Amino acid sequence: MKIISADYIYTPNSFIENKAVAFTDTIKEIDTIEVLQDKYPNAEFIQTETHSILYPGFINTHVHLEFSANKTALKYGSFMPWLDSVIEHREELVSNCSNIVMMNECETMLRSGITTFGAISSFGNELEVCEVTPQRVVFFNELIGSNAQYADMLYGDFMERVKASMSCEKKSRITAAVAIHSPYSVHPIILQKAVNVAKEYRLPLSAHFLESQAEREWLEHGKGELKGFFEKYFKTTTPVTNIQEFMYAFDTYPTHFTHCVQANKVELDYLTLKGHSIAHCPRSNRYLGCGRLPIEELSLPYSVATDGLSSNDSLSIFDELRAALMLHHQAPIDELANTLINSVTANAADILGINCGKIEVGKLADFAIITLPNAVKREEELALWTILHTKDVSEVYIEGQKYL
Ligand code: BEZ
Ligand code: FE2
Repeated sequence: MKIISADYIYTPNSFIENKAVAFTDTIKEIDTIEVLQDKYPNAEFIQTETHSILYPGFINTHVHLEFSANKTALKYGSFMPWLDSVIEHREELVSNCSNIVMMNECETMLRSGITTFGAISSFGNELEVCEVTPQRVVFFNELIGSNAQYADMLYGDFMERVKASMSCEKKSRITAAVAIHSPYSVHPIILQKAVNVAKEYRLPLSAHFLESQAEREWLEHGKGELKGFFEKYFKTTTPVTNIQEFMYAFDTYPTHFTHCVQANKVELDYLTLKGHSIAHCPRSNRYLGCGRLPIEELSLPYSVATDGLSSNDSLSIFDELRAALMLHHQAPIDELANTLINSVTANAADILGINCGKIEVGKLADFAIITLPNAVKREEELALWTILHTKDVSEVYIEGQKYL
């Protein structure tokens, strides 16, 4: 048993003072230091630095580790030139992305307090790294392929990867999961088969959806910038699906949709009705010129996530939260800061279906401790000062073990 104390503890309802947490691999009790030490006299006592806040470990629900080698290769500013640059440089980026490069990025995430992440995997290359990184990893095996001719082969490869990740579950902190690349890039027949796999094995399910104006125009009208792309690379002139057909394919299974920047009110209401959630990636959306997701209008749960280094400059969750504060400039700042912290803790854990994300008895003992430079004057600003002043967290625990 261990007992940890901090100036503040972030619980699902509020920041509490003068309390401590007793834990093993899970959280056993929350009470005063005196009560916990009386009850567990042999427990190791951990006193965090002054001005510290104990948070549940942060959760990044959407990242692509296999594009971690990108710094200056891909074109930012607008979605289509970016996608063209991905096609042009994909092989070189993937081959430059060694296990060392990916492990460094897992460490960056750990230093920013991320104890769980959702890794979108197109090739399965990052499986070894995800097996050895200390974090919990929801390993989203991605299905891609709009050409019916290659559909069976691509689906077969996808299933191999699903099985490989399932076989890692017992000996690591990996959870196998399914990702659908996007409506424009996955043939509806294999899409439905993959959704059925997720349902049958109760695997977390995710899909990029309505990221750009070009995607919307292609799916709605078969026109726009994606038309030239499909003519050039796939010799096709019509989309394989439309917005409604794609959304309806997920009707009976809660799915984590990434971006949704270009979704309209009817579509967002439909996603809400069906119990889905959104991964909101503010920097990725800004860098690819996709627009702003109006989070203030959402009535479904969302997380804030980094996306990959293919459309970002770091995998630090605090860099992302600071960007979110800037992107949503119209929102009252303290309220937004609290909502954002909630989005990378309790919301994100519910979305990924992992028993963490809250400091509450029975939850997994995953913690991130942050230390503010000074005492706070007004408690309603704790979330804001946390986001603005944290570059690296002070300590990290996963399943009760200290990793930082
Ligand atoms: C496709 O298979 O249709 C596809 C693959 C990558 C990017 C876009 C489309
Ligand atoms: Fe993504």
